[in-house]
Amino acid sequence: MPYTVPKLTDYSANGLLKAFADAKLAFRDEMREVKSEAEWKVFRDLWMARKNGILTQINDQLKKAPKEVKREFGQHLNELKQYIKSEIDSWHSFTEGGAGQLTAELERVDISLPGVRRAIGAEHPVIKTTNEMVRVFQKLGYSVAEGPVVETDYYNFESLNFPPNHPARDTQDTLFIAGQQSKPQRDRLLLRTHTSPVQIRTMETMRPPIRIVIPGTVHRNDPPDASHSPMFHQIEGLAVDTSITFGDLKGTLDHAMKEFFGSNVKTSFRPSFFPFTEPSAELFVSCFICGGSGKRGPDNAPCRPCKQTGWIEILGCGMVDPNVFEFVKDNGYDPKKVSGFAFGMGADRIALLKYGVDDLQLFFQGDVRFLQQWA
Ligand code: PHE
Repeated sequence: MPYTVPKLTDYSANGLLKAFADAKLAFRDEMREVKSEAEWKVFRDLWMARKNGILTQINDQLKKAPKEVKREFGQHLNELKQYIKSEIDSWHSFTEGGAGQLTAELERVDISLPGVRRAIGAEHPVIKTTNEMVRVFQKLGYSVAEGPVVETDYYNFESLNFPPNHPARDTQDTLFIAGQQSKPQRDRLLLRTHTSPVQIRTMETMRPPIRIVIPGTVHRNDPPDASHSPMFHQIEGLAVDTSITFGDLKGTLDHAMKEFFGSNVKTSFRPSFFPFTEPSAELFVSCFICGGSGKRGPDNAPCRPCKQTGWIEILGCGMVDPNVFEFVKDNGYDPKKVSGFAFGMGADRIALLKYGVDDLQLFFQGDVRFLQQWA
Protein backbone atom coordinates (compact mmCIF):
# COMPACT_ATOMS: atom_id res chain seq x y z
CA MET A 1 0.00 0.00 0.00
CA PRO A 2 1.57 3.33 -1.01
CA TYR A 3 1.77 5.93 1.72
CA THR A 4 -1.05 8.45 2.01
CA VAL A 5 -0.80 11.48 4.25
CA PRO A 6 -3.02 10.86 7.29
CA LYS A 7 -5.16 13.58 8.77
CA LEU A 8 -3.18 15.04 11.65
CA THR A 9 -5.08 15.61 14.88
CA ASP A 10 -2.41 15.10 17.55
CA TYR A 11 -0.12 18.12 17.44
CA SER A 12 1.74 17.25 20.66
CA ALA A 13 5.53 16.81 20.47
CA ASN A 14 5.04 13.03 20.50
CA GLY A 15 2.24 13.18 17.95
CA LEU A 16 4.39 15.13 15.50
CA LEU A 17 7.39 12.89 16.11
CA LYS A 18 5.31 9.83 15.36
CA ALA A 19 3.65 11.28 12.24
CA PHE A 20 7.04 12.21 10.74
CA ALA A 21 8.67 8.93 11.76
CA ASP A 22 5.79 7.09 10.01
CA ALA A 23 6.27 9.09 6.82
CA LYS A 24 10.02 8.48 6.83
CA LEU A 25 9.64 4.75 7.39
CA ALA A 26 7.06 4.51 4.62
CA PHE A 27 9.37 6.41 2.27
CA ARG A 28 12.25 4.08 3.06
CA ASP A 29 10.16 0.96 2.52
CA GLU A 30 8.76 2.21 -0.78
CA MET A 31 12.14 3.38 -2.05
CA ARG A 32 13.51 -0.10 -1.58
CA GLU A 33 11.06 -1.34 -4.20
CA VAL A 34 12.15 1.14 -6.88
CA LYS A 35 13.93 -0.95 -9.51
CA SER A 36 14.06 1.06 -12.74
CA GLU A 37 14.48 4.58 -14.05
CA ALA A 38 10.79 4.69 -14.98
CA GLU A 39 9.71 3.60 -11.51
CA TRP A 40 12.11 6.10 -10.00
CA LYS A 41 10.44 8.98 -11.88
CA VAL A 42 7.00 7.96 -10.68
CA PHE A 43 8.30 7.55 -7.15
CA ARG A 44 10.04 10.92 -7.20
CA ASP A 45 6.87 12.66 -8.35
CA LEU A 46 4.75 10.84 -5.81
CA TRP A 47 6.85 12.31 -2.99
CA MET A 48 8.27 15.51 -4.45
CA ALA A 49 5.87 16.84 -7.11
CA ARG A 50 5.09 20.47 -6.41
CA LYS A 51 1.50 19.85 -7.24
CA ASN A 52 0.03 17.34 -4.82
CA GLY A 53 3.23 15.45 -3.99
CA ILE A 54 3.35 14.01 -0.48
CA LEU A 55 5.72 16.72 0.77
CA THR A 56 3.39 19.38 -0.65
CA GLN A 57 0.45 17.75 1.10
CA ILE A 58 2.31 17.80 4.40
CA ASN A 59 3.20 21.42 3.74
CA ASP A 60 -0.52 22.16 3.31
CA GLN A 61 -1.11 20.62 6.74
CA LEU A 62 1.58 22.88 8.16
CA LYS A 63 -0.40 25.88 6.91
CA LYS A 64 -3.46 24.65 8.79
CA ALA A 65 -1.60 23.71 12.00
CA PRO A 66 -2.14 25.71 15.20
CA LYS A 67 0.20 28.68 15.43
CA GLU A 68 2.14 27.44 18.44
CA VAL A 69 3.25 24.18 16.78
CA LYS A 70 4.16 25.66 13.38
CA ARG A 71 7.81 26.10 14.28
CA GLU A 72 8.29 22.52 15.47
CA PHE A 73 6.20 21.16 12.59
CA GLY A 74 8.32 23.19 10.15
CA GLN A 75 11.54 21.77 11.56
CA HIS A 76 10.29 18.20 11.18
CA LEU A 77 9.14 18.92 7.64
CA ASN A 78 12.48 20.45 6.64
CA GLU A 79 14.33 17.49 8.00
CA LEU A 80 12.07 15.08 6.11
CA LYS A 81 12.41 17.12 2.90
CA GLN A 82 16.19 17.08 3.06
CA TYR A 83 16.26 13.39 3.77
CA ILE A 84 13.90 12.53 0.91
CA LYS A 85 15.68 14.79 -1.53
CA SER A 86 19.11 13.38 -0.79
CA GLU A 87 17.88 9.78 -0.92
CA ILE A 88 16.14 10.36 -4.22
CA ASP A 89 19.16 12.16 -5.68
CA SER A 90 21.57 9.49 -4.59
CA TRP A 91 19.48 6.72 -6.13
CA HIS A 92 19.53 8.62 -9.35
CA SER A 93 23.24 9.33 -9.41
CA PHE A 94 23.94 5.62 -9.53
CA THR A 95 21.65 4.97 -12.44
CA GLU A 96 22.49 7.98 -14.60
CA GLY A 97 24.23 7.69 -17.97
CA GLY A 98 26.20 4.52 -18.50
CA ALA A 99 25.51 3.29 -15.01
CA GLY A 100 21.83 3.51 -15.95
CA GLN A 101 22.34 0.16 -17.56
CA LEU A 102 23.03 -1.42 -14.22
CA THR A 103 20.01 -2.91 -12.57
CA ALA A 104 19.19 -1.95 -9.02
CA GLU A 105 19.74 -5.59 -8.13
CA LEU A 106 23.36 -5.46 -9.25
CA GLU A 107 24.04 -2.35 -7.27
CA ARG A 108 23.08 -4.15 -4.09
CA VAL A 109 26.15 -6.35 -4.41
CA ASP A 110 28.54 -3.51 -5.26
CA ILE A 111 31.06 -4.05 -2.49
CA SER A 112 32.42 -0.55 -2.92
CA LEU A 113 29.17 0.92 -1.62
CA PRO A 114 29.23 2.17 1.93
CA GLY A 115 27.89 -0.41 4.40
CA VAL A 116 24.50 -0.35 6.09
CA ARG A 117 24.74 1.52 9.34
CA ARG A 118 23.04 -0.37 12.13
CA ALA A 119 21.42 1.69 14.85
CA ILE A 120 23.11 1.30 18.23
CA GLY A 121 20.80 -0.02 20.95
CA ALA A 122 20.03 1.91 24.11
CA GLU A 123 18.91 1.15 27.65
CA HIS A 124 15.18 0.62 28.00
CA PRO A 125 13.70 3.39 30.18
CA VAL A 126 12.69 0.90 32.90
CA ILE A 127 16.19 -0.64 32.97
CA LYS A 128 17.72 2.83 32.92
CA THR A 129 15.60 3.87 35.91
CA THR A 130 16.46 0.62 37.71
CA ASN A 131 20.17 1.08 37.13
CA GLU A 132 20.06 4.67 38.35
CA MET A 133 18.24 3.67 41.53
CA VAL A 134 20.54 0.69 42.14
CA ARG A 135 23.51 3.03 41.72
CA VAL A 136 22.17 5.32 44.46
CA PHE A 137 22.28 2.40 46.90
CA GLN A 138 25.60 1.06 45.62
CA LYS A 139 27.10 4.41 46.50
CA LEU A 140 25.88 3.81 50.08
CA GLY A 141 27.74 0.49 50.16
CA TYR A 142 24.92 -1.85 49.11
CA SER A 143 25.69 -4.85 46.89
CA VAL A 144 23.36 -6.22 44.23
CA ALA A 145 21.58 -9.53 44.82
CA GLU A 146 19.23 -11.40 42.51
CA GLY A 147 16.95 -14.43 42.72
CA PRO A 148 14.70 -16.64 40.60
CA VAL A 149 11.46 -15.41 39.02
CA VAL A 150 9.85 -18.85 39.42
CA GLU A 151 9.72 -19.18 43.19
CA THR A 152 8.41 -21.59 45.79
CA ASP A 153 5.52 -20.81 48.10
CA TYR A 154 8.06 -20.94 50.95
CA TYR A 155 10.22 -18.06 49.74
CA ASN A 156 7.46 -15.90 48.28
CA PHE A 157 5.12 -16.30 51.27
CA GLU A 158 5.79 -18.59 54.20
CA SER A 159 9.26 -17.35 55.18
CA LEU A 160 8.03 -13.78 54.79
CA ASN A 161 5.51 -14.37 57.55
CA PHE A 162 2.48 -15.01 55.30
CA PRO A 163 1.26 -18.27 56.92
CA PRO A 164 -0.74 -20.70 54.71
CA ASN A 165 -4.29 -19.35 54.22
CA HIS A 166 -3.38 -15.95 55.66
CA PRO A 167 -5.63 -13.28 54.06
CA ALA A 168 -2.61 -11.06 53.23
CA ARG A 169 -1.78 -13.58 50.50
CA ASP A 170 -4.88 -12.45 48.60
CA THR A 171 -3.43 -8.99 48.07
CA GLN A 172 -0.64 -10.47 45.97
CA ASP A 173 -2.78 -11.67 43.00
CA THR A 174 -0.45 -14.60 42.52
CA LEU A 175 0.05 -16.50 39.26
CA PHE A 176 0.59 -20.16 40.22
CA ILE A 177 2.37 -22.76 38.13
CA ALA A 178 -0.04 -25.56 37.16
CA GLY A 179 0.23 -29.16 38.32
CA GLN A 180 1.82 -28.55 41.73
CA GLN A 181 -0.95 -30.03 43.89
CA SER A 182 0.89 -33.25 44.68
CA LYS A 183 3.73 -31.34 46.39
CA PRO A 184 3.69 -30.04 49.96
CA GLN A 185 2.42 -26.43 49.91
CA ARG A 186 5.81 -24.87 50.71
CA ASP A 187 7.42 -26.46 47.62
CA ARG A 188 4.73 -25.46 45.13
CA LEU A 189 5.96 -23.18 42.36
CA LEU A 190 4.59 -19.76 41.45
CA LEU A 191 5.76 -16.60 39.72
CA ARG A 192 7.19 -14.39 42.45
CA THR A 193 4.86 -11.49 43.22
CA HIS A 194 7.62 -9.33 44.69
CA THR A 195 11.40 -9.27 45.03
CA SER A 196 11.16 -9.84 48.83
CA PRO A 197 11.93 -13.62 48.56
CA VAL A 198 15.50 -12.58 47.74
CA GLN A 199 15.71 -11.15 51.28
CA ILE A 200 15.44 -14.67 52.72
CA ARG A 201 17.54 -16.27 50.00
CA THR A 202 20.35 -13.81 50.70
CA MET A 203 20.15 -14.18 54.48
CA GLU A 204 20.41 -17.96 54.02
CA THR A 205 23.77 -17.58 52.29
CA MET A 206 25.29 -14.40 53.77
CA ARG A 207 25.80 -13.76 57.45
CA PRO A 208 25.05 -10.33 58.93
CA PRO A 209 25.82 -7.50 58.58
CA ILE A 210 24.34 -7.17 55.07
CA ARG A 211 23.24 -4.35 52.82
CA ILE A 212 21.73 -5.47 49.55
CA VAL A 213 19.69 -3.98 46.73
CA ILE A 214 17.63 -6.37 44.62
CA PRO A 215 16.34 -5.45 41.15
CA GLY A 216 14.09 -7.89 39.32
CA THR A 217 11.01 -8.93 37.40
CA VAL A 218 7.81 -9.86 39.23
CA HIS A 219 4.36 -11.04 38.11
CA ARG A 220 0.80 -10.52 39.32
CA ASN A 221 -2.55 -11.48 37.93
CA ASP A 222 -3.44 -7.93 36.83
CA PRO A 223 -4.91 -7.37 33.37
CA PRO A 224 -2.80 -4.90 31.36
CA ASP A 225 -3.96 -1.26 31.31
CA ALA A 226 -2.38 2.19 31.51
CA SER A 227 -1.06 1.57 35.03
CA HIS A 228 -1.05 -2.25 35.41
CA SER A 229 0.82 -5.09 33.80
CA PRO A 230 1.00 -8.81 34.63
CA MET A 231 4.80 -8.40 34.48
CA PHE A 232 6.61 -5.49 36.07
CA HIS A 233 9.83 -4.62 37.90
CA GLN A 234 10.75 -3.99 41.51
CA ILE A 235 13.78 -2.73 43.36
CA GLU A 236 14.10 -4.10 46.87
CA GLY A 237 16.49 -3.24 49.64
CA LEU A 238 17.57 -4.92 52.87
CA ALA A 239 19.95 -3.81 55.59
CA VAL A 240 20.63 -5.96 58.67
CA ASP A 241 23.09 -5.25 61.47
CA THR A 242 23.21 -5.28 65.25
CA SER A 243 21.56 -1.95 65.98
CA ILE A 244 19.59 -0.74 62.99
CA THR A 245 16.70 1.55 63.88
CA PHE A 246 13.71 3.13 62.17
CA GLY A 247 15.80 6.33 62.16
CA ASP A 248 18.32 4.57 59.89
CA LEU A 249 15.49 3.55 57.57
CA LYS A 250 14.18 7.11 57.37
CA GLY A 251 17.60 8.67 56.90
CA THR A 252 18.63 6.18 54.22
CA LEU A 253 15.44 6.49 52.18
CA ASP A 254 15.26 10.28 52.54
CA HIS A 255 18.83 10.49 51.22
CA ALA A 256 18.10 8.03 48.39
CA MET A 257 15.00 9.95 47.24
CA LYS A 258 16.89 13.26 47.22
CA GLU A 259 19.74 11.68 45.30
CA PHE A 260 17.34 10.17 42.74
CA PHE A 261 14.65 12.85 42.32
CA GLY A 262 16.63 15.97 43.25
CA SER A 263 17.70 17.54 46.52
CA ASN A 264 14.56 19.67 46.90
CA VAL A 265 12.10 16.75 47.33
CA LYS A 266 10.70 16.11 50.79
CA THR A 267 9.74 12.69 52.14
CA SER A 268 6.81 11.62 54.28
CA PHE A 269 6.29 8.25 55.98
CA ARG A 270 2.76 6.98 56.59
CA PRO A 271 1.77 3.87 58.56
CA SER A 272 1.05 0.74 56.52
CA PHE A 273 1.05 -3.04 56.79
CA PHE A 274 3.23 -5.79 55.36
CA PRO A 275 3.44 -9.22 57.02
CA PHE A 276 7.25 -9.21 56.84
CA THR A 277 7.89 -5.78 58.37
CA GLU A 278 6.81 -4.30 61.70
CA PRO A 279 6.24 -1.42 61.92
CA SER A 280 5.55 -0.82 58.23
CA ALA A 281 5.24 2.40 56.28
CA GLU A 282 4.62 3.84 52.86
CA LEU A 283 7.05 6.46 51.69
CA PHE A 284 5.73 9.47 49.79
CA VAL A 285 7.89 12.10 48.10
CA SER A 286 6.72 15.64 47.49
CA CYS A 287 5.55 15.83 43.88
CA PHE A 288 8.60 16.57 41.72
CA ILE A 289 6.31 17.57 38.87
CA CYS A 290 4.29 20.37 40.52
CA GLY A 291 6.74 20.99 43.36
CA GLY A 292 4.17 19.88 45.92
CA SER A 293 1.54 22.52 45.16
CA GLY A 294 -0.88 20.14 43.41
CA LYS A 295 -1.19 22.69 40.58
CA ARG A 296 0.66 23.10 37.29
CA GLY A 297 1.50 25.92 34.95
CA PRO A 298 0.43 29.56 34.84
CA ASP A 299 -3.28 28.62 34.71
CA ASN A 300 -3.06 26.41 37.83
CA ALA A 301 -4.09 23.23 36.04
CA PRO A 302 -4.62 20.24 38.36
CA CYS A 303 -1.46 18.12 38.66
CA ARG A 304 -2.37 14.62 37.54
CA PRO A 305 0.63 12.53 38.70
CA CYS A 306 0.05 13.45 42.38
CA LYS A 307 -3.74 13.68 41.99
CA GLN A 308 -3.46 17.27 43.29
CA THR A 309 -2.25 16.06 46.69
CA GLY A 310 1.33 17.30 46.23
CA TRP A 311 2.62 13.83 47.26
CA ILE A 312 3.52 10.72 45.28
CA GLU A 313 3.68 7.23 46.80
CA ILE A 314 7.00 5.62 45.95
CA LEU A 315 7.54 2.53 48.06
CA GLY A 316 6.64 0.24 50.93
CA CYS A 317 9.09 -0.26 53.80
CA GLY A 318 9.51 -1.18 57.42
CA MET A 319 11.63 -2.86 60.09
CA VAL A 320 12.22 -6.56 59.38
CA ASP A 321 9.68 -8.55 61.42
CA PRO A 322 11.40 -10.79 64.05
CA ASN A 323 9.32 -13.70 62.68
CA VAL A 324 11.24 -13.38 59.40
CA PHE A 325 14.60 -13.61 61.19
CA GLU A 326 13.37 -16.81 62.87
CA PHE A 327 13.55 -18.56 59.48
CA VAL A 328 17.28 -17.73 59.11
CA LYS A 329 18.19 -17.72 62.79
CA ASP A 330 20.80 -20.45 62.34
CA ASN A 331 22.80 -18.30 59.94
CA GLY A 332 23.43 -15.57 62.52
CA TYR A 333 20.09 -13.77 62.39
CA ASP A 334 18.97 -14.15 66.00
CA PRO A 335 16.09 -11.66 66.30
CA LYS A 336 17.31 -10.82 69.80
CA LYS A 337 20.68 -9.76 68.40
CA VAL A 338 20.05 -8.27 64.96
CA SER A 339 17.63 -5.76 63.51
CA GLY A 340 17.12 -4.41 60.03
CA PHE A 341 14.96 -2.58 57.58
CA ALA A 342 13.61 -3.44 54.13
CA PHE A 343 11.92 -1.54 51.34
CA GLY A 344 10.48 -2.29 47.91
CA MET A 345 9.45 -0.06 45.02
CA GLY A 346 8.02 -0.40 41.52
CA ALA A 347 10.60 0.56 38.89
CA ASP A 348 8.06 0.88 36.06
CA ARG A 349 5.90 3.32 38.02
CA ILE A 350 8.92 5.44 38.85
CA ALA A 351 9.98 5.42 35.18
CA LEU A 352 6.45 6.51 34.15
CA LEU A 353 6.59 9.43 36.57
CA LYS A 354 10.15 10.36 35.80
CA TYR A 355 9.69 10.44 32.03
CA GLY A 356 6.10 11.71 31.98
CA VAL A 357 4.79 8.66 30.11
CA ASP A 358 1.04 8.20 30.51
CA ASP A 359 0.63 4.56 29.48
CA LEU A 360 2.58 1.70 31.07
CA GLN A 361 1.90 -0.55 28.08
CA LEU A 362 4.19 1.59 25.90
CA PHE A 363 7.13 0.21 27.88
CA PHE A 364 6.37 -3.36 26.83
CA GLN A 365 5.26 -3.05 23.21
CA GLY A 366 8.78 -2.79 21.81
CA ASP A 367 7.94 0.02 19.38
CA VAL A 368 11.33 1.42 18.38
CA ARG A 369 9.84 4.86 17.68
CA PHE A 370 8.80 5.10 21.34
CA LEU A 371 12.03 3.66 22.73
CA GLN A 372 14.19 5.85 20.49
CA GLN A 373 13.32 8.79 22.69
CA TRP A 374 15.81 7.43 25.24
CA ALA A 375 18.51 6.61 22.69
N1 PHE B 1 7.16 -6.55 48.82
C1 PHE B 1 6.30 -5.41 49.02
C2 PHE B 1 5.35 -5.29 47.81
O1 PHE B 1 5.61 -5.84 46.79
C3 PHE B 1 7.07 -4.13 49.19
C4 PHE B 1 7.92 -4.11 50.43
C5 PHE B 1 9.23 -4.56 50.41
C6 PHE B 1 7.39 -3.64 51.62
C7 PHE B 1 9.99 -4.54 51.56
C8 PHE B 1 8.15 -3.61 52.77
C9 PHE B 1 9.46 -4.06 52.73
O2 PHE B 1 4.33 -4.64 47.88
